[in-house]
Amino acid sequence: MKLFLDTADAAEIRELAATGLVDGVTTNPSLAAKTGRDYSESLKEICSIVSGSVSAEVLATDFDGMLKEGRAAAKIAPNIYVKVPSTWEGMKACRALTDGGARVNVTLCFSPLQAMMAAKAGAAFISPFIGRVDDIGEDGMGLIRDIRAIYDNYGFKTEILAASIRSVSHVREAALAGADISTIPADIFKKLMSHPLTDKGLAAFAADAKKANVTIKV
Ligand code: E4P
Repeated sequence: MKLFLDTADAAEIRELAATGLVDGVTTNPSLAAKTGRDYSESLKEICSIVSGSVSAEVLATDFDGMLKEGRAAAKIAPNIYVKVPSTWEGMKACRALTDGGARVNVTLCFSPLQAMMAAKAGAAFISPFIGRVDDIGEDGMGLIRDIRAIYDNYGFKTEILAASIRSVSHVREAALAGADISTIPADIFKKLMSHPLTDKGLAAFAADAKKANVTIKV
């Protein structure tokens, strides 16, 4: 599974990219607003840190506006993916941008049929929002499983990008459900390697080595 960071904060991305395990980044207007910076400038910096895909979301909701913004965003760097919403206008923009050579991430996906339409419109990524589906008392992970089944039934190549991740368990479950990618907030990404038994085991090894003066010559 590919792991993306779900943030527009370049400093956060720089810190975690040093792990060598960040395959890409997703941003959206709310995440961009949190940085207080110019969105295009942030995207340029993020693309210089990460060589994998960096998703940039359009603000327009009409076809012409999405096309203009999408084309402009795609020019920021070769690894930009343009995010458009799961609407009819979004589907038209997805097809036009894809035909023009851009890669498109269809976002705000809440139903398997929206995901099927996005795949038919040529989307590179579909972003089902697990956490927001759970928030309204429905089954976010079930959405990932349904999309996986539909894509596999018909051989759609669109990658399933599990979004709106709220916990480490979401990442594990999305991997088990067959999502191709999880996009993860930095605080949750940092917890992916945590386990109390690893810490306990390390402390015991260190104590035993100290007692018997076990070393590795360097
Ligand atoms: C990712 O592309 C989305 O923008 C993001 O995961 C939304 O998450 P939220 O529901 O926590 O805002």
